[in-house]
Amino acid sequence: MTEVTVIGLGEMGAALAAAFLDGGHAVTVWNRTPEKADPLVAKGARRADDVRGAVAASELVVVSVKGNDSALALLESADLDGRTVLNMTDGTSAEARRVAAEVTARGAAYLHGQIMTIAPGVGHPDAVVFFGGRAEVYERHAPVLALLGGRGTLVSDDPGVPTLYGMAVHGTMWGTLNGFLHAAALLTDAGLEVERFLEHADASMSALVSFLPSLAQEVDRGEYAVPFGALQHHLPSVEDLVRESGDRGVDTEFPTSTLDLVRRAVAEGHATDSYSRLVEHFRGR
Ligand SMILES: NC(=O)c1ccc[n+]([C@@H]2O[C@H](COP(=O)([O-])OP(=O)(O)OC[C@H]3O[C@@H](n4cnc5c(N)ncnc54)[C@H](OP(=O)(O)O)[C@@H]3O)[C@@H](O)[C@H]2O)c1
Repeated sequence: MTEVTVIGLGEMGAALAAAFLDGGHAVTVWNRTPEKADPLVAKGARRADDVRGAVAASELVVVSVKGNDSALALLESADLDGRTVLNMTDGTSAEARRVAAEVTARGAAYLHGQIMTIAPGVGHPDAVVFFGGRAEVYERHAPVLALLGGRGTLVSDDPGVPTLYGMAVHGTMWGTLNGFLHAAALLTDAGLEVERFLEHADASMSALVSFLPSLAQEVDRGEYAVPFGALQHHLPSVEDLVRESGDRGVDTEFPTSTLDLVRRAVAEGHATDSYSRLVEHFRGR
């Protein structure tokens, strides 16, 4: 049995601790509001009186709280020498690197973990976790970390990368969801059922995801010229979407922002480039 400490027993921390317990590990827990530890203690976890004691109990110390400032403040009182801190607190990549720098300066190894599921999904074979940190640290704890999700991987030795990967997924998700919900507003305004639309448009919608690797390749190479489907062909379609939305009194702000981007790129001489050319706009250069 490996000893694991979990600091922070909110929705996520409690799920992480439960997964370690279910995996047969000795788990020590601490939470600012102590009663939140009760269900885990009932399942066999040991309650620490303070953070210092929680950190002393285990070599692997998992932190899951709201905000990296809180994570750092909590760890201040503890002796981190010889510990591995797995920080699963969300924030920016710079924050993750700052926690990593402070923790390693105090003699601990550091891993950052970005979990891509909600609490009930922790431990599921399909649950994705992006880890960042030194490979030997990750390998040392890999069997325990595997309990958090079947699709956990070390993505970089840079502890800031997992948060960037997480943001890239979420950013894509919000853009896609906004586009879909705008489309749903348009369809329902016309009295059409969205579910029925999806039945018919299934292949078109699935093709959107299969399109991403070619966009990724164009962006990575900085080569945007394409023989077909260039920005000049997107332009009239986006114009139609804005006009249809306007005619119906459906929101035009969302598709107009897309129209502005495409029009500008075309006006700047990129009419025959792929849609991926717009990454230059998002880069802010
Ligand atoms: N919930 C999810 O589905 C989910 C999914 C992916 C990632 N995450 C990430 O997991 C992390 C934890 O989220 P959560 O959903 O578990 O949040 P939560 O349910 O709101 O719980 C927040 C936790 O942080 C603790 N906390 C907040 N400020 C603190 C402070 N200043 N000092 C000490 N403890 C403090 C709380 O302690 P008290 O109990 O004493 O208030 C509690 O344990 C966040 O970074 C979140 O983004 C959550």
